[in-house]
Parts: sequence; structure tokens; C-alpha cells
Amino acid sequence: MYISEEELLSHIAAKPFKLVSEAADEMGVEAYVIGGYVRDIFLNRPSKDIDIVAVGSGIELAKHVAEKLGKRAYLSVFKNFGTAQVKCGDLELEFVGARRESYSHDSRKPVVEDGTLEDDQNRRDFTINALALCLNKDRYGELVDPFGGLEDMEELTIRTPLDPDITFSDDPLRMMRAVRFASQLGFFIDPDTFEAIIRNRQRIEIISRERIADELNKIVLSPKPSVGFELLDKCGLLSYIFPELCALKGVETKEGIGHKDNFAHTLMVLDRLSRTSDNLWLRWSALLHDIGKPATKRFDPRLGWTFHNHNFIGEKMIPTIFRKMKLPMNEKMKYVQKMVNLHMRPIALSDDEVTDSAIRRLLFEAGDDIDDLMKLCEADITSKNPEKVRRFLSNFQIVRSKLAEIEEKDRVRNFQPPITGEEIMETFGLPPSRPVGVLKEAIKNAILDGVIPNEREAAYQFMLERAEKMKLKKV
Ligand code: CTP
Repeated sequence: MYISEEELLSHIAAKPFKLVSEAADEMGVEAYVIGGYVRDIFLNRPSKDIDIVAVGSGIELAKHVAEKLGKRAYLSVFKNFGTAQVKCGDLELEFVGARRESYSHDSRKPVVEDGTLEDDQNRRDFTINALALCLNKDRYGELVDPFGGLEDMEELTIRTPLDPDITFSDDPLRMMRAVRFASQLGFFIDPDTFEAIIRNRQRIEIISRERIADELNKIVLSPKPSVGFELLDKCGLLSYIFPELCALKGVETKEGIGHKDNFAHTLMVLDRLSRTSDNLWLRWSALLHDIGKPATKRFDPRLGWTFHNHNFIGEKMIPTIFRKMKLPMNEKMKYVQKMVNLHMRPIALSDDEVTDSAIRRLLFEAGDDIDDLMKLCEADITSKNPEKVRRFLSNFQIVRSKLAEIEEKDRVRNFQPPITGEEIMETFGLPPSRPVGVLKEAIKNAILDGVIPNEREAAYQFMLERAEKMKLKKV
């Protein structure tokens, strides 16, 4: 974790930092860069938010800095919170005065008083987030680390600066943040800190669903998301925030026949997918692909365990889950529903003989999301039998090349019917009615089944023939 003094200074060399330094010296206050920005210097990660803490008024310091920056700067003051923001080009500086802060037991409303730098560091979540770099001229770049944050960083440890029961009771979201940092950075949660999460887990209930969803999304986007979900499960937070995922846990055996643990399987699929995709919603699709399994699980003495229609039930469960978790109820959710619904189709295809018609139908239903769906399906092959895996993957190659071939030939990926409903109504003098739908559907099916090519002339002829059988007359 060692970095040279020169390198450290290079991260606070931009003009606005120098101006904060001048302004703080002129006002006779101490100023420090603190929190995530300092942590990320040592972890060699990009960081955008710059938090500055003043031992004195953060708002007054911000105003003075903004004056010095002149027209280039944009100042916003949040008097109620005692904070201010200065935007200057790409840089965003957040100012706050050093504070002592505590929360009463059942409220999120903090009691805040002025404090020293150490008071301020004390009330932060983790030692690695409590590092401060001084900006005053005579101590420029001096690291203030009273809780061994640097050492914890070297040992990849997440630890609270104070007694963890106090830190977590001040803001229970920090329990999720601990898990999120472990998953995102590949760190380990210190055993005392972890025990405190177990003890305080129920307090997560006072936290807003939006803040929880932000942390969950960061876990989902981390390099190996299973790390986060396994920790959430182990400390007991998962059953409060995501009971549907907990329900996937466990193996039942009847008549000597067991089924796989769908929680472990789901996490394996999510990790495998995460190696090939950073798409948040595709990763959510992996997390939810088998969410319908507990509700559809049956034991049939002839077939063993079955999960009939679990894809369909899973698709139906998603709006309830998204609403409750305050995830977006928009096209992103619809995309996840589609992925969950279709997640077994390419596998089913590769099991049977791959017909053009089945491929055309899959392309029609998946549209532009077909490549994402194929990624999800490949990730879903987690069998321990290498022969089975090899066979699936090679059949998948056949499905992929057939998909490309059919798309090239028939262009059904974003299928637009070559004959519209209006045209059918005009041709046969029909009002909007059932026969119009029947004809439209027949044309679509004929194209998808390969009876006719995806072309207007062929579709028109087909429509006339079909209409004659239905005793419809051209007008
Ligand atoms: N912080 C805290 N408790 C919280 C949230 C934040 O103590 N519940 C403190 C930490 O010192 C943190 C800083 O505020 O470093 C900034 O918080 P934030 O911007 O939310 O997180 P970062 O640590 O910067 O990490 P990221 O940007 O990845 O969210």
C-alpha cells in the first residue's frame, strides 16, 4: 500500500486544492481532504467526490474558496446540513465543518455539535474511510490516521474506528456498507465488526429502501458479487432486505433424491456472468433467474424434483420485488422480466434438434437482447459433470451460429410485421375486430415458422389466401 510522497502530493496538486490551502490559512482554520478520496489514492482507484473538512465553518471556507476561483466556480450552500459544495470544471468539492455527531436510538435525526478533527474521524464508518490529508501550507500532504486506517488497508480489513455497536447504531446502513466494501474491494470484515453486524442486523429496518438499494447495486456490480451476498447471508441481513433470495437456500431430499441448492447455484451464475458483463440489469437477471423456484418446487416420484414454470412465476414476482426494493419500475425492470422468462430457452434449444423455426421465435422474442440472453444462459451452465458442460457449450456454439445465420437471412430480431393491422382492415373493409388479429397473427407465425420469407409481397399473397379461407372479400 506504500506510495511515495511525490505520488501522494500529485493527487492534491490541482489548483482548487491549492486555493483551499490558501483560503484556510488566510482564515486561520485547519482544512483536510478526508474519506473516500484519500482511501482511493492508496487503493489506486479513480474517485470523483472530494470531501473537505474544516476545523471551523465548512460553509465559510467554501465561500472563500469560491471567491478565489472567481467566475469558474459554482457555489451551493446547504445551511440546514452545515455543508457547501463548490463545483469547478470536473472537480466537485464538498465542504463540512468538523463535527461530533450522535443519533438517538429510534431516530435518524442526528444531534450535531462542533468538534475537532479527531471527533470527526471518530464518527466515520471505517478506519479506511477516516484518513485525512492536511491542506494547510506548512503541513501540506501530511496524513492524519489516528485509527490505523493505513494498516487496515494493507491488511485488507474493514474495521470501525469506534466500538462497532456505536458506529452501526449511529447509522445502520454502515452494516451494508461494510459488506459492500468487502465485496467491491476484496477486503475482509474484522471479526469484532462482523459480530456487531450480526447483533445489530435488525436495525437495518429503520433505513430507507433507496439507500439499501444503492448499496445492493454496488454489491451486484462488484467483481465477484457472491462475496457480498454470502456475507449478507452469514450476518443475517439478507433475510431482512431480500427474503426471496433467502428462500432459495437449502436442499431437500425425498426418496433418496436431492436437488441442488438454488442459492449457491444462483450466486455461481451471477459470478460467472460478472466475468463477461458489467451490465447492472443483466446481473440482476442472473440474481433473479431462479427466483420462482421455491414457489414451484414439487416432488414427483417418477420425475424427482420439478420446478415447472419457474421462469414464468419468477417473471411475475419481479414487479413486487422491484417495488418493495425501490428499484426502477421501468424498461429496466421489463428487461429483467424478459431475461428471467426466457432464461431456459436457448438451453432447451440446444437439448433438442435446433430447428430454424425455434431459432426465429427466440430471435423474435428476445429482440436486441439476444446476446445478453445467450450470456446469461452460458453462465447458467454450472454442472459439475465436465462432459455435460462440454456438450452444452458446444451445442450453444451451434445455437449461436444458427442465430447469426437466421438473423442474416430473415431479419426477425426486431420484427415489424410486413402487413399492418390498418392495411388488413382497409383491404377487407373490416372494423377493428377479431378476424384482423387472427390474420395478423397467421402472417407472423408463417414468417416465424419459415412458411414464407419475411417480405411484403409473400406476406400479401399469404394474407389473400388465408382471407379467402376465412371467407373475407377484398374491397
Ligand atoms: N460516511 C460514513 N458513514 C456513512 C456514509 C459515509 O461515515 N454511512 C463517510 C465515510 O468517511 C466516507 C465518506 O463519508 O468515506 C463519504 O461517503 P460516500 O461518498 O458515501 O462514500 P465513499 O466512501 O466515498 O465511497 P463510494 O464513493 O464508493 O460510495
